[in-house]
Amino acid sequence: MISASAHPNVALIKYWGKSHDALRIPATPSLSIPLLAFRTETSIEVARKRDEVILSGQEDKSGRIANWLRILRGDLGLDMPPLTVRSSSNFPSAAGLASSASGFAALTLAINALLDLDLDMPSLSRLARLGSASAARSVSTGFIALDGRENAHTAWSAQKVLDYDAWPLGVCVAICSHTPKAVSSAAGMNRSRDTSPAYNAWLTGNRQMFERTVNAVTARDFEALASAARWSFFGMLTVMQSSVPPLNYFNESTCAVIQAIKTLQDQGVPVFFTCDAGPHVKCVHLPEYAALVEARIRAVPGVLEAIQACP
Ligand code: PMV
Repeated sequence: MISASAHPNVALIKYWGKSHDALRIPATPSLSIPLLAFRTETSIEVARKRDEVILSGQEDKSGRIANWLRILRGDLGLDMPPLTVRSSSNFPSAAGLASSASGFAALTLAINALLDLDLDMPSLSRLARLGSASAARSVSTGFIALDGRENAHTAWSAQKVLDYDAWPLGVCVAICSHTPKAVSSAAGMNRSRDTSPAYNAWLTGNRQMFERTVNAVTARDFEALASAARWSFFGMLTVMQSSVPPLNYFNESTCAVIQAIKTLQDQGVPVFFTCDAGPHVKCVHLPEYAALVEARIRAVPGVLEAIQACP
């Protein structure tokens, strides 16, 4: 039996929309940091007859991992026996905390070890990307960029821009619901691509912000990072809200946390927020403000938990 673990990540520059559905090629580049307190542990062993996938103790009925294993064996020609996969996470899944990212990344790392593939980071990230595009950014930790120029499988892989230790930003996560999301990210982003009048402007603007962000991370410029992350978040939100029918992943507590963070910003605290396809708010701050940010989030009515996701 082989075990591996991976962390989910939060994108500061978002991807929302694909240019190739089956190959899960994002329509825009993205850049993330890991949520180190959250973890998915995955173990695999050779099965007798067919693949078996058990997530948090329950047989996986979605078929998502089984499909991905078929792609690895079929399209990529990986010589892999039937597997029993067992995976569990220490955080809520399917509610916008990127459990698919850490799940596919951990499974990719386990397969790499079981089959002695000895793949480098770009190759690992491409395999993980075929399961979930954000998983490409979870095969390693640090400030991770997922970029590519052509609409081809081999062109889109992740690279490390900076070690996390070189700029250990804090991330406090406000858990605002335990209910799974009603519209999956995959369905939501396809709806946006097909119906939102803001979609094309989003693609162009987000690439510019990505390039600015790589420079901001390299220079460890918090203000520049916050400004690009703000653009990317509100750009994605505009596209979600202008989709037909509109996509709404937030609840009242989400909005209340955002208001609390805006108040902290007005008081000069170096903190910014971002959200994904779910109600939780990820608040990124300079490390010395961890206690203050956490206390303010915890005091917001409706917040179920405030978790420091980075040491
Ligand atoms: O990796 P997916 O296909 O589940 O999509 C994730 C999309 C966002 O979390 C909203 C943005 C991102 O870049 O992680």
